[in-house]
Amino acid sequence: MSHDSPGAPRRQFIRILGGGAVFAATAAMAGTLAGCSSEMPADAVAPWSGPGNEPDLRRWILAHAILAPHSHNLQSWLVDLSQPGEMRLFCDTTRLLPQTDPFNRQIMMSQGTFLELLVLAARQRGQRAEVTLFPDGVFEGPVPEAGPKARAVARVRLVADATLAPDPLFQQIFKRHTHKGLYDPAREVSDAAWTAMAEAAQPAAGGDALLPPTTGLRFGRLGPSGTGDAAALERQREIAREAWRIELTTPRTMLESLKLVRLGAREISQHRDGISLTDPMLVLLGRVGLFDRSKAPAADDPAITGQIKDFNANLASTHAFLWMTTPGNDRATQVNAGRAYARVQLAATAHGVVMQPLQQALQEYTEVAPLYRAIHQLLAPQGETVQMWARVGYAGGGGRHDGQAPRRGVDAIIRA
Ligand SMILES: Cc1cc2nc3c(=O)[nH]c(=O)nc-3n(C[C@H](O)[C@H](O)[C@H](O)COP(=O)(O)O)c2cc1C
Repeated sequence: MSHDSPGAPRRQFIRILGGGAVFAATAAMAGTLAGCSSEMPADAVAPWSGPGNEPDLRRWILAHAILAPHSHNLQSWLVDLSQPGEMRLFCDTTRLLPQTDPFNRQIMMSQGTFLELLVLAARQRGQRAEVTLFPDGVFEGPVPEAGPKARAVARVRLVADATLAPDPLFQQIFKRHTHKGLYDPAREVSDAAWTAMAEAAQPAAGGDALLPPTTGLRFGRLGPSGTGDAAALERQREIAREAWRIELTTPRTMLESLKLVRLGAREISQHRDGISLTDPMLVLLGRVGLFDRSKAPAADDPAITGQIKDFNANLASTHAFLWMTTPGNDRATQVNAGRAYARVQLAATAHGVVMQPLQQALQEYTEVAPLYRAIHQLLAPQGETVQMWARVGYAGGGGRHDGQAPRRGVDAIIRA
């Protein structure tokens, strides 16, 4: 439930809110449960059915780009279509995560994932998407407010090019998802999958580089069939566990996530972003006012300890990690790291491999600084920045449903 959390199954939440009074109340209302949907509402996931017969090329392209991964599923994308043949991407500054992402690094990466899917979709239609990052000048500080002074993250010009071959990663756009539950501990990530992921992170050879070769991005992996050993795997799990605990027990970071919880079909349909919770028991508790999202639970509250236990189980089922580092950490690098991550995840999807970013230790807020240092010493001892760290594997049984996450649709991101 907290920062892009693995979710918490029903029993934890029952414990969370767990006094006898709550049980009595929910038992008495058991009949009402039938009326509380545990399903993801169809309208919230309709964008995953694709653009259909959308006649407008740019809107068709955008219908793919909105399926990109984004931290907390915030979808901070705004696109200006006022110039024919062009799309200008802006960051929606009402959709930032100031507590957990104070420098907007993950927001910039999430602009990059969008751009990469946009480029893949354009290519599918025989259009070369010429991407110019920060055409109005780069902002190293806070993302400038929207409005007349807004500065674009990217300008994309579409140029018809009959010589372009479709990128096979395009086919994975509708299949990709972030898998936050258990992984199958018995299955090793195949060498073929690792190779495909590593290659996908690199700029394409030849004239039409899909990614600019400026990031100096390096791809690392740890897994039983890779360079890993049990102690190194355990060290990564340990850092992930502790960083997660800190985020959950730091009231302002926990509250940031709680505010993005969309509880039940009604809220999910209304917002189509954020952290979706569909468990019928939780929805019921929400309806009767027993799921308090206005203040962070105490550290020893079962709401926290239950999530930590779940997350630790997910980590224990994880036997492989990947990471991506860059020598610099400027805005363009962050966007390009996001583009690369999108490609890596699509390549993994083609091999049936799932992943979940573990950004907690990579975040730049004070309380988590020791873990930030620990993960950087481990994965980037030369002083590089770890832009992405993720657990990797094959979906395991049990745990929460890991289906398609809601999207707000193309109209919601068109800048007026
Ligand atoms: C930059 C970035 C950081 C992310 N960090 C996390 C994370 O720390 N934990 C997590 O579970 N998911 C993380 N995600 C995944 C998002 O939660 C996910 O993309 C979003 O909920 C939409 O779901 P989907 O990827 O299945 O479409 C991250 C994604 C991006 C692009």
